[in-house]
Amino acid sequence: MSHRLVVLISGSGTNLQAILDAIQDGQLNASVALVLSNKAGVAGLDRAHAAGIPTAVIEHKRFPDREQFDRAMIEAIDPYDPETVVLAGFMRILSDVFVHHYRGKLINIHPSLLPRYPGLHTHQRAIDAGDTQHGCSIHFVTEELDGGPVIAQAVVPIRSNDTAETLSKRVQLREHALYPLVLNWRAAGHVELHQDGVKLHGETLGIQGHQLEWQD
Ligand code: GRF
Repeated sequence: MSHRLVVLISGSGTNLQAILDAIQDGQLNASVALVLSNKAGVAGLDRAHAAGIPTAVIEHKRFPDREQFDRAMIEAIDPYDPETVVLAGFMRILSDVFVHHYRGKLINIHPSLLPRYPGLHTHQRAIDAGDTQHGCSIHFVTEELDGGPVIAQAVVPIRSNDTAETLSKRVQLREHALYPLVLNWRAAGHVELHQDGVKLHGETLGIQGHQLEWQD
């Protein structure tokens, strides 16, 4: 049986596409049961349709508050009984209700080497700080925004002539490799959230998770 995923998106869905491609190529032993978007008409939904995957649109702006929106999402997701809920460019802050409900199953990709640069505009912030390295992180989601325990990071060197745009393109390439890799670990039962942090292959990881460096 392949590992059941539900993927949450808000936009272009290039990470979703990378996951779908890895499944299609036989590199990722998983299946996407549902793609849920909080925005109608986004490209990520077209990608799901093209792959024949059920979609749901639950627009946050139709709900009076965050918690009621999150409860509606839970109602839409739970019938699919996901083993991992994947945030892939999902641009809403989740309430504690949602985070508790999927604790240990909910993972996110963030475009920085956490704990550096939670929040937005991460590429520009890394350049402005004079950092020599940047990258992306996949982490379990907890109540703290972009603060949950990190599973893995891909490190990307910053070049002297990088702009936020050129850097973000190279980071995104790494995102597209890192998500299938981490999901494969999940599918094989190798990565779990424990009281004292993330365990990968039974070993507790440090705060930056498992670090991978790719050559550009
Ligand atoms: C990615 O850069 C991811 O790190 C961030 O949002 C972006 C999503 O891009 N959380 P896409 O929708 O997967 O193309």
